[in-house]
Amino acid sequence: MSIAEKEKKVVTLAFGCQMSERDADTLTEISSQQGYTPSQDLAEADLIIINTCCVRESAENKILGKIGELKRLKEHNPNLKIAVSGCMVQQPGALERLRKRAPHVDIWAGTHNIHEFKRLLEEAEQKGKVAEVWDKPKETHESVPLAEKGKLKAFVNISYGCDNFCTYCIVPHVRGRERSREPEEIINEIKELVKSGCREVTLLGQNVNSYGQDLERTYDFADLLQAVDEIEGLWRIRFTTSHPKDLSDKLIETIAKGEHICEHIHLPFQAGSNEILRRMNRKYTREYYLSRIARIQELIPGVSLTTDIIVGFPGETEEDFEQTLELVRQVRYSQAFTFMYSKRSGTPAAQMPDQIPLDIKKHRLQRLIEVQNSQSLAWRQAMVGKTYEILVEGPSKANPNRLTGRTRGNELVVFPGEDSLIGHLVQVKIEDANSYTLFGTCEEDKFLKEC
Ligand code: 5AD
Ligand code: SF4
Repeated sequence: MSIAEKEKKVVTLAFGCQMSERDADTLTEISSQQGYTPSQDLAEADLIIINTCCVRESAENKILGKIGELKRLKEHNPNLKIAVSGCMVQQPGALERLRKRAPHVDIWAGTHNIHEFKRLLEEAEQKGKVAEVWDKPKETHESVPLAEKGKLKAFVNISYGCDNFCTYCIVPHVRGRERSREPEEIINEIKELVKSGCREVTLLGQNVNSYGQDLERTYDFADLLQAVDEIEGLWRIRFTTSHPKDLSDKLIETIAKGEHICEHIHLPFQAGSNEILRRMNRKYTREYYLSRIARIQELIPGVSLTTDIIVGFPGETEEDFEQTLELVRQVRYSQAFTFMYSKRSGTPAAQMPDQIPLDIKKHRLQRLIEVQNSQSLAWRQAMVGKTYEILVEGPSKANPNRLTGRTRGNELVVFPGEDSLIGHLVQVKIEDANSYTLFGTCEEDKFLKEC
């Protein structure tokens, strides 16, 4: 192969939530259609794409560090193109600041124009640097189907943007108002994924529970879940994120009845005190949240619950924080994602008085993690001795001699077994547990389904 014909490689790095991961997959897909082969090796890349997150300052600092490191690669390979896209670039006024800080970046794109990446890439290849950020989405059809065959699990966007304006959150400012995709589009995308070997989908939206409110017909998230549950050949359905204020009885009943809908609900509560919830503009009280949890646990026995929690929101007192700890002890989450409040410019909470000093935030976070770790451990220890259905995903990252997969409740399980089990649903008996992982043995004679 001559140098002119050398295969071009693209490496895509995604930071942040599953939306960002799905967007990164879209960018990889568009690049492959332009002749770039996906790779993991930064040193051999001809194109590096960084899809960014700006939900917390720590994420931004990590990404800025990574973009800085890439400068060195450009010195070795002057033909290397670097693209930076997504939420961080979309923040009002961010583009100019970022361009000054990282002049070695060739392509800048926001969240609303990633499906235009083909044109941006061509312009960068032909003319040089290009920067484009749209104020708002211009088309309703934003999804780019992925051609990657045989992927066992896939993310499927059901809506974009968010209308909730929680006072700490930058997301509505960088992803726009909520837009639901048409049900037929979603169902067809999933049917195509299943044809290509996909067995598990995660339906994505900033608030999946308000799906459909902007559609012309009367159609809600429960209707969509039920329709997805009927798709032949799909084994597991997950969804994220659920907002407690929109979690209807109809939805809980649909999850309870669904054959393939996994018994796992990610239901962020963010703070345990009503005063902090009010200042966060979460639109529910602690009591309402707990009543939703009670209903879920009543209708879906054994349901696995996970949550997001913020500590150190402006004005949070020791008593407010104690209520967060108390709620965590009461609910018994299988896992919690815990964050220190991070000031995001342009959000109302950034202007609020009584910002909490970093040392107090750190101390509260540490105390919260300790409580949740013991809850996570108790949750997993209660699973020891029982047998669960696991979708086998591949070798364990920590121990490549073991396989790994997840329960329907989304708990990670590690167990010995042949590679031939990958892609299958198997029964695994749990023998040991720590706060994060279950360890078991596979009852190989009890195959449930084959690809
Ligand atoms: N500071 C800390 N955590 C935040 N989150 C969103 N915005 C902020 C912020 N400014 C958390 C919330 C949300 C999760 C995705 O990130 O808990 O549910
Ligand atoms: Fe942010 Fe709140 Fe919307 Fe979630 S629901 S994306 S926390 S504004």
